[in-house]
Amino acid sequence: MSNAMWGGRFESGPAAIMEEINASVEFDQQLWRQDIAGSRAHVAMLAQQHIITQEDCTAILKGLEQVEREIEGGTFVFKRSLEDVHMNIESRLAEIVGPAAGRLHTARSRNDQVATDMKLWVRDTLDSIDQQMRDLQLALVERAVEFSGAVMPGFTHLQSAQPVTFGHHLLAYVEMLGRDRGRVQDARKRLNECPLGAAALAGTSFPIDRFATAKTLGFDRPTANSLDSVSDRDFALEALSSASICAMHLSRLAEELVIWTTPQFGFVRLSDAFSTGSSIMPQKRNPDAAELVRAKAGRIIGAMNGLLIVMKGLPMTYAKDMQEDKEGTFDALSSLSLSLAAMTGMIRDLTPDTKMMKKAAGSGYATATDLADWLVRTLKMPFREAHHATARIVGLATARKVGLEKLTLQELQTIEPRMTDAVFAVLGVEKSVRSRLSYGGTAPELVRKQAKRWLARLQREAR
Ligand code: ARG
Repeated sequence: MSNAMWGGRFESGPAAIMEEINASVEFDQQLWRQDIAGSRAHVAMLAQQHIITQEDCTAILKGLEQVEREIEGGTFVFKRSLEDVHMNIESRLAEIVGPAAGRLHTARSRNDQVATDMKLWVRDTLDSIDQQMRDLQLALVERAVEFSGAVMPGFTHLQSAQPVTFGHHLLAYVEMLGRDRGRVQDARKRLNECPLGAAALAGTSFPIDRFATAKTLGFDRPTANSLDSVSDRDFALEALSSASICAMHLSRLAEELVIWTTPQFGFVRLSDAFSTGSSIMPQKRNPDAAELVRAKAGRIIGAMNGLLIVMKGLPMTYAKDMQEDKEGTFDALSSLSLSLAAMTGMIRDLTPDTKMMKKAAGSGYATATDLADWLVRTLKMPFREAHHATARIVGLATARKVGLEKLTLQELQTIEPRMTDAVFAVLGVEKSVRSRLSYGGTAPELVRKQAKRWLARLQREAR
């Protein structure tokens, strides 16, 4: 019977509530591959160290193989009453193997077991995310090569600032992703120490070989402190923070796609495959995938915040609070993976409207800086003075509702009498971008060079 005072929606009393809050198998069954790998490494080491017999080891390994087949084949029944993935697997193993199965947990605890499983899962996932980041870089670079000379407005404050090239803009994201990958690779390096054998918290009196299990599982070495081993979750936090930063980058690009695909901007058309229609407004092509990539950043950053809050103030060592590391981490990293895949697809398929971009680049007096620079270079004006004169010229063009290049020489000379015909050479957007030759600048020849450099580097990596 449920408790009359607080039983509420629970029909079968405190025991059921306890089971519901305590069990993690609904989500941690995702760790089954890692759990079996960890058990294999552990049991082999136990036999090697003569802690269990070779016979028992063989029986356990055979049993684990059957468990693996059952889970893979979808016939394995996970039971909430058995709490988590670890006890579900061990209990089934006992059914298959008999009492020998009980020896698997010698010199091990669920505390070091779950830390090991989680690390293996995060490590595998970081590796595949790194690959996906590379794929997105490659997609961006390929488009950057294609559009290294396509002029578009560059923005500050989302106001037209100076003309840049579309290729240059895309390469900015390649740089961001390069740093994102650095963070992921760095997190992986620090993560790669094996907690297995720390046991509950203090180590074990059995003569285990932690270096052997670490090696089998692909770790660089065992963790050095047993207390830290079972209570560290900063490997997950580092993964989540790298994921958050990358998600933030993706959300910025996604937002740009949302802006660029509006009819008002019209810089870019997403492919049909990455657009959706409206059920009521037939004219619409909605950038849903971009919007969702923009939004996924919310749950990814949320997961990082969530786990930081779970961990803060926890006394050493393991506490059940730490079971709350899983859902957020699983969800965040798979959301990032999906976002990367969607962004890669959108970038590969999109069609830029280079005419629209160029037209927009020419409006909004985006070459005003070029005019000011010309005054400095040709008339040896101090830049501040040139800035002032240019502002007056922009004012004149605004009043006349024309672009800078449409003003006549006579008009220009009303503001600066020393002005010559030569000034018109710098007022076009193409001229403007071509002149931005400083290192890292937007000149098409530099963009092409940078894109080729990235391309070679990414292709080398792929081999
Ligand atoms: N399901 C648990 C978790 O994910 C496993 C470790 C349980 N350890 C314990 N001492 N109760 O954290």
